[in-house]
Amino acid sequence: MEKIVIHGQKPLRGEVTISGSKNAAVAIVPAALLANDIVILENVPDIADITNLVEIMREMQVKVDRLDAHTLRIDSRHMCNDCASSEAVRKMRASYYFLGVLLGRFKHARVAFPGGCDFGVRPIDLHVKGFEALGAEVSTKAIIEMKARELVGTNIFLDFASVGATINIMLAAVLAKGTTVIENAAKEPHVVDTANFLNSMGADVKGAGTDAIRIRGVQKLHGSEYAIIPDQIEAGTYMMASAITGGDVKIKNVIPRHMESVSAKLREIGVSVVEKDDCIHVIGSEHLKPTKVKTMPYPGFPTDMQPQILVLLSLISGTSMVNESVWDNRFRYVEQLRKLGANIDVEGHIAIVEGVDQLQGTEVQATDLRAGAAMVLAGLAAEGSTTITNVQYIDRGYEGMVEKLTSLGACIDRITDDGPMLYTPPQAG
Ligand code: EPU
Repeated sequence: MEKIVIHGQKPLRGEVTISGSKNAAVAIVPAALLANDIVILENVPDIADITNLVEIMREMQVKVDRLDAHTLRIDSRHMCNDCASSEAVRKMRASYYFLGVLLGRFKHARVAFPGGCDFGVRPIDLHVKGFEALGAEVSTKAIIEMKARELVGTNIFLDFASVGATINIMLAAVLAKGTTVIENAAKEPHVVDTANFLNSMGADVKGAGTDAIRIRGVQKLHGSEYAIIPDQIEAGTYMMASAITGGDVKIKNVIPRHMESVSAKLREIGVSVVEKDDCIHVIGSEHLKPTKVKTMPYPGFPTDMQPQILVLLSLISGTSMVNESVWDNRFRYVEQLRKLGANIDVEGHIAIVEGVDQLQGTEVQATDLRAGAAMVLAGLAAEGSTTITNVQYIDRGYEGMVEKLTSLGACIDRITDDGPMLYTPPQAG
């Protein structure tokens, strides 16, 4: 069992390069199976979630070769439509994308129930309603099974701008008959990237990035070569790392437009954020102001940056407030921050933070992926040494985090502990 140990209070300096987007890659890698052909994907992050997806695809007789650390060659010409008994499917939430892909390509899908980080109930009712509207019969007993004689395009209004439901409906609809319109669609950069990838395979998807996505079904898709966008949340996490250590870091290979809500919030509290073409330069300051943050679907402040900014606010003198409006229960990790000395009260969806002068290193757990990133940020800022357990969560979404932080001057290490330890099975975002 591995742990991360950090000796804190070293200001980070230098440059860090952001990897490909996890949440785009976990949609685009399965989406490649819609082509019944060969697809080459570049800028795929080297993270555990992708390793898991590759395992599921190999179980389905897809030939997947790693051409290098970040390039996958996916040949799905001889694949099957069944991953109902896959343990790997149960390890991650994003395995729900096999539903849309298999339904779209085979009109018949058998998929195990997806898992995922535990921050409250994580239903897939909006996905299912979308598939049913396209003409599928859906049964959700021991496994999820969907069948359709044909899929026929229609208008689908989402009650909530769900990322997963928007992408999943797009995946099924690209090979449907006629036109599908998704209204109140999610607008996240990974939704747009998935639509761009589908179009590169011959799909006809318009309006991704707006409230209404129009998908005109085509008969068949073809192979393609495509590079995935940089990871918005990894970039945001390093922006926070620079801010929280009073550092001076250039974050490279980013799309600054995707970072606007995070950049604006950092500037508001007094951090210097300078955007260049594909780089953001973040310089921390000792004089930061408390603030209010509300998480919202894109272009609002991302829920996946909520734990990270909460750590920063916990060190800013005065009262800050964080309102989590996307997930029901995403403050479980606050208990871990309290162990480090943070003064945070949680009332339902709202965390009230009284800034403290200092966090004090101790042993804490990564309770999920972004909470794990928050523990690393806390460790970078804390006095003394912080030990983080359950680091398998961090590996699911951050490529080489320890190496990247080391190159910025952090005193951070991974160690193996042979002693007895409670094991929590890894789950993904
Ligand atoms: N929701 C429903 N019914 C559904 C789907 C969603 O009620 O059928 C609700 C959820 O319960 C939640 C809200 O809608 O309250 C948002 O869920 P959404 O479907 O947008 O989330 P997701 O697609 O399951 C993705 C990311 C998450 C990120 C959310 C919100 C992936 C693989 N995961 O999840 O990322 O928090 O969008 O932006 O893209 C992470 O990367 O750490 C992570 C958890």
